[in-house]
Amino acid sequence: MRLPVVTKLANIDDVQARIDHYLTEKLTSLPVNDEILLAAMRYGLLIGGKRMRPYLAYITGTALDAEQNDIDGVAAAIECIHAYSLLHDDLPAMDDDDLRRGQPTCHKAFDEATAILAGDSLQTLAFDIIANHKFSAAVDNKRINLLRYLIDAAGYQGMCGGQALDLAATDKTISLVELENLHSLKTGALLEASVMMAAECSTKASKFDKVQLAKYAKLIGLAYQVRDDIIDITSTEEELGKPAGSDLAANKSTYPALLGLQGAQEKAENLYQQALQALTTLPYNTQSLSDFATFIVSRKH
Ligand code: IPE
Ligand code: IPE
Ligand code: MG
Ligand code: MG
Ligand code: MG
Repeated sequence: MRLPVVTKLANIDDVQARIDHYLTEKLTSLPVNDEILLAAMRYGLLIGGKRMRPYLAYITGTALDAEQNDIDGVAAAIECIHAYSLLHDDLPAMDDDDLRRGQPTCHKAFDEATAILAGDSLQTLAFDIIANHKFSAAVDNKRINLLRYLIDAAGYQGMCGGQALDLAATDKTISLVELENLHSLKTGALLEASVMMAAECSTKASKFDKVQLAKYAKLIGLAYQVRDDIIDITSTEEELGKPAGSDLAANKSTYPALLGLQGAQEKAENLYQQALQALTTLPYNTQSLSDFATFIVSRKH
């Protein structure tokens, strides 16, 4: 299959600037109890990062006429969980990586205890944001729903559970079904939450729309990690801003390890086609959502 090309996402610079502004303000508003810990949080949250999850939340919100101010809270909370997951993912006890976003990993720039605590603090900050963000009146009473999505995506039922399965599957061959479950949890869940929490901020989305959006989100969430496994092999450290070949070196269970490179890319493209299919039933302009799907299965970093 020849993929259409989306080399740059529309308005990505605006989204990055907006979310960086929000997160900078949030960190600046915190009391300086421990300067080093706060510096490590800033390091993990504000230096680099493609901001794909905030982007997904903003384009979903825009398609469904949600208010941008409401999406700010959702996007910021999700990015805090994501940044924390990366600080912990890079630790010696997990993937033991030295480079992230073109910089030394947090435990290298600071130390392991500080990286653990910065991750913990960013996780809590996500829930602080959902609890305290100035949502519009229509979304204010939906905080508990937003929290449910975030809890499911971040914790045992989501990212943390997936990370545990990932570690358990290291140095082992697992089945495709097991790999799909692992990927859906460790990476898919948070991308899915980006879509579903944005949909929750809209008064337009019907129950049926939400079912279709959830299908789309699950498919691209899984595709995101399949592509991450591919570029771990095919891109350079310079392109990635993180070590290339890290999965092979650590003998991780990945799609290329199970299916070969071509099989893995076919899997990503198959997920992509199914994701586009899920969008066709939605009565909105979903061009940006389909462009996002195209971008993630062709991205090089
Ligand atoms: C990396 O996520 C970890 C995965 C879940 C695949 P990203 O590729 O979104 O990393 P940043 O935030 O842009 O650095
Ligand atoms: C990402 O998986 C998992 C997370 C939830 C952080 P990877 O371990 O493949 O992510 P990278 O390649 O280090 O960014
Ligand atoms: Mg990992
Ligand atoms: Mg890793
Ligand atoms: Mg990876």
